[in-house]
Amino acid sequence: MTDWRIKPLDAILATAAKKSLHRSLGAFQLTMLGIGAVIGTGIFVLTAEAAQKAGPGMMYSFVIAGIVCAVAALCYAELAAMVPVSGSAYTYTYAVMGELLAWMVGWALVLEYAVAAGAVSVGWSGYFVGLLKNELGIIIPQALAVGPSAGGIVNVPAFLIALLVTWLLVIGTTESAFVNSILVVIKVTALTIFIFFAYKFIMANPETSKAHFDPIAPLGFGGIGAAAASIFFAYVGFDAVSTAAEETKNPQRNMPIGLIGSLAICTIFYLLVASGVIGTVGAQPMMDAAGKGLAPGSSELTAACSAIGDNAVVCSKEALAWTMRQINQPTVGSLVGLAAGIALPSVILMMMFGQTRIFFVMSRDGLLPEVFSKIHPKFKTPHVITLITGVFVAFFAAFFPVGALADISNAGTLFAFATVAVAVMVLRRKDPDRKRPFRTPYVYLVAPIAIAGCLYLFFKLSAYTLLLFVVWASIGLAIYFLYSRSHSHVGKGIIDVHEDDPDIPPSSVPPIE
Ligand code: ALA
Repeated sequence: MTDWRIKPLDAILATAAKKSLHRSLGAFQLTMLGIGAVIGTGIFVLTAEAAQKAGPGMMYSFVIAGIVCAVAALCYAELAAMVPVSGSAYTYTYAVMGELLAWMVGWALVLEYAVAAGAVSVGWSGYFVGLLKNELGIIIPQALAVGPSAGGIVNVPAFLIALLVTWLLVIGTTESAFVNSILVVIKVTALTIFIFFAYKFIMANPETSKAHFDPIAPLGFGGIGAAAASIFFAYVGFDAVSTAAEETKNPQRNMPIGLIGSLAICTIFYLLVASGVIGTVGAQPMMDAAGKGLAPGSSELTAACSAIGDNAVVCSKEALAWTMRQINQPTVGSLVGLAAGIALPSVILMMMFGQTRIFFVMSRDGLLPEVFSKIHPKFKTPHVITLITGVFVAFFAAFFPVGALADISNAGTLFAFATVAVAVMVLRRKDPDRKRPFRTPYVYLVAPIAIAGCLYLFFKLSAYTLLLFVVWASIGLAIYFLYSRSHSHVGKGIIDVHEDDPDIPPSSVPPIE
């Protein structure tokens, strides 16, 4: 008989009940946490990439990606409220579909969180470099400002910001979460100002703006789908909220509000910002002689952009700041750039935080070495795993382009989301009477739509991305069978109930005032 090694849900819930973690987060703080994790490089930087793939049709891409996230969020919310413990999709899968799949999901979440943190670091670097150039006249040489695929050697700013965030997490999350709350406010304010000035321009120039939407889909529906698969990154992170479940007051009520509330707010912002970009400066892609769109991040696109003096939003590494400068709002452009420069690190922080906590839980389950869940005696943080994660993130950030990192991260996320959607349905069948503080509405419709949507976006990613995903999954399987399977606590028959466990970080997400 197959040994699925399902971690008993009751043991997981007992862990949650007996934890000494301080439950301090309410619905508002969770929503803030969600917005902090979600709004970032996707909208500030990858808007240019989406435009290159879909043209003005990127509006539809945002909607498609948003819908997939919304249905996935509804599935997430049921499990997050029902199993209010750390570990996100990993924990849910463990309880429902067993250890092997849980391991695969945890392994895929590394892509979601750690690789995403690298992507956001690169996105931040684009704004930082632009800011230095436009405001202070300081030009960082190309060799040190971008990675090898964009014609540089090493992206030093991206590398350094990743290390700085690692340090913040190591010295204690109290400081970093406080910083995070301020940054969320800055980010939302910047997008609001952008929308205000973009729409002011659009109202003053209705004919020009209208013309910018034509043709709406120069690369057809294929382009819109491909852009949706990439821009999906703009929504990645809302599930970081669910990893804070153990620190949430009344998670049964607040968790769904935090998840869906933050997603709804972000979607509205994205549509307003994307339409603002299109209406003001246009978003037509650069094509080759045959009328095929040039691939974002390719040397062909770089050459085509140089030929027109980078005078198109699809060429910009700081799309929103560039847009404002184009419509004669250089001060607003600088403010938006400054806000992105100051605020994007909050996304890196949330991503790395999520990553360390998932590793922490996997290590506590015996699937990763115990040293990973070691707590620093002074800072009371899981410093070992934070440092290891930080080094990897800094490496990704230093050498890889933002679009490629975002796409790889999306592959992992889509896998995890699809698994959660399956888990919700399985649990409804297996354990129909368990209390569900939040029930996914029309679950047998919503969950299949979530699965289909995730699969659609997954297969819209480039062949190269899918190949990397397969390689990553294979490495994961090898580690599972060589190490994790024989060290698993569930496998050894140990049912962990972590009562007053000193190894638990005392307050991984402090309240955001
Ligand atoms: N959604 C996050 C961002 O766009 C990861 O930066």
